[in-house]
Amino acid sequence: MKIPLGQYLNLLSRYLAAQKPRVALLFALLISGVLLQVGNPQIVRAFIDGALDGEPQSRLLVLAALFILFAAISQLLAVLATYLSETVGWTATNALRSDFAEHLLRLDMSFHKTRTPGEMIQRIDGDVDGLSNFFSQFALALCGNLLLLIGVLFFLFLEDWRLGVALGLFALLALTVLFSLRSFAVSRWIALREVTAQFYGFVGEQLAGTEDIRANGARPYSMTRFHEQLRHWLPLSISSGLGFAWLWIASLSVFTVGHTVALLASFYLWQQGDLSIGSVYLVFHYTELLRRPIEQIREQMQELQSASASIARVDGLLQIESKIRDEGRITLPDGPLAVEFEGVSFGYEPDDPVLNGVSLSVEPGQFLGLVGRTGSGKTTLGRLLVRLYDIDDGRLTLGGHPLAELPLSHLRDRVGVVSQDIQLLEGSVRNNLTFFDESIPDERLVRALDGLGLGGWLESLPDGLDTELGTNWRLSAGEAQLLAYARVFLRDPGLIVLDEATSRLDPATQRLIEVAVANLLRGRTAIVVAHRLTTLEDADVIAVMEDGSVIEAGPRQALLADQTSRFASLYRRDAEASLT
Ligand SMILES: Nc1ncnc2c1ncn2[C@@H]1O[C@H](COP(=O)(O)OP(=O)(O)O)[C@@H](O)[C@H]1O
Ligand SMILES: [Mg+2]
Repeated sequence: MKIPLGQYLNLLSRYLAAQKPRVALLFALLISGVLLQVGNPQIVRAFIDGALDGEPQSRLLVLAALFILFAAISQLLAVLATYLSETVGWTATNALRSDFAEHLLRLDMSFHKTRTPGEMIQRIDGDVDGLSNFFSQFALALCGNLLLLIGVLFFLFLEDWRLGVALGLFALLALTVLFSLRSFAVSRWIALREVTAQFYGFVGEQLAGTEDIRANGARPYSMTRFHEQLRHWLPLSISSGLGFAWLWIASLSVFTVGHTVALLASFYLWQQGDLSIGSVYLVFHYTELLRRPIEQIREQMQELQSASASIARVDGLLQIESKIRDEGRITLPDGPLAVEFEGVSFGYEPDDPVLNGVSLSVEPGQFLGLVGRTGSGKTTLGRLLVRLYDIDDGRLTLGGHPLAELPLSHLRDRVGVVSQDIQLLEGSVRNNLTFFDESIPDERLVRALDGLGLGGWLESLPDGLDTELGTNWRLSAGEAQLLAYARVFLRDPGLIVLDEATSRLDPATQRLIEVAVANLLRGRTAIVVAHRLTTLEDADVIAVMEDGSVIEAGPRQALLADQTSRFASLYRRDAEASLT
């Protein structure tokens, strides 16, 4: 797998641009460090040659003192550079982490449907972690090492051009060999990370479903899948490890060659009388110095392998744009809103239509009851109204405007959806009502609950709004619904889409819910998906759905009066069922 340089540079410039002064200081430190490292052996050479030539001791002492001073400063700079590069790296990755999480949250439902939560966690946590090395160590240390490499080669050239050429060629050869082995290991690493993510996704899914798995005796199946995943994991892990081993062996061999070349060449030049003993020391030392950057560049390639995989995936995910484009400008007036479906078709998957030319219209303030078998597309209609998905064909308008003309946040403010299965969050009743929006005062919450006829219910909770859900208080399915109604009521939407839960409730809660729903729907347009026809006593119009189409629609009274209508026959069946 080839990873274009563009992706690296793109990420680097995006996340380092915000820290320009720090990055500049870091580079200054790196360059001074390189100069000191390359300069110091020159002092040693002068010392050795001076000592052999019998120069005065005072001069030798000055040289020795200079050497120690430079060495100390060089260590100090290294510490500072490490500190700075870690800071730069962490700042950059934290920014990336939050951008990434926000991006994923913005993506449309069809994206999230195809990824498990565990996989997303692995992306945000594991991959971004991989990138923190890329920012802090790889990118900056690589620059430092390249500078050192160039500095060393430059001074070798000054010493003797033949040495410069020989070791320059060697460095080139070493880098080429190590670079070409890189891609070999990267592909294995990517495959390994992919399987790891899948494994976490699998474990997350199994843990979430543990109750159903046990209840249905599906444990053996779960375990079989578990072993399958492990079996898949091991060979990939081995081959990825082997990829690294190859890199390591290659670099060892290359260095043996390098040292041999340097020793042979300087021995030859010394014999010819072209190099002094001090210079031979210098060449030897420079060869050692050359070893460090090349070796570290190899190690950083290893970092890069993990980062490459992460960068490719992170960048890939960042490139995915939500299919739901948020480009609308129009805002809707307050009050009840008209809804109009005109020949709307939609499918979750291409070529698998779930809705086929649905036409329906609801006047502002009207109450539409939606009935039909499971799978006929009722819930889907509600999802389309808040643009969790976009329609494939036809026209869907709210207050006379196609949904795409409205800003997404505005649309979701004006349309309140209570879904079939309500999710409560870990937290207090207050936070569950406001979604952690602290600007909403308690009085408004209490007024909302009162307005829905739930004042008494609120008082029955042990700590009122402070009751912690999930820890010291469990809500029944019915109470969760009440909470969901209050959530929507608070936002005062112009259209309510209510997907009735199928679970049977105790009569007391059922009555509370009826009162709450009646209060919630007053003065708003409502689309209510009902499983019990009693829920639709107050409906103005009824639509019956079958296989993704509306097969019957009209005023409730008219449909009831017409004995041949689908709704009337459903009604008779429902009445018989409740008699038995
Ligand atoms: N998230 C989804 N992804 C793919 N198919 C779905 C999804 N949700 C529902 N469907 C399919 O769409 C069809 C209509 O489902 P739905 O709107 O939930 O019907 P209803 O609410 O009337 O029971 C069904 O065939 C269902 O399997
Ligand atoms: Mg449904």
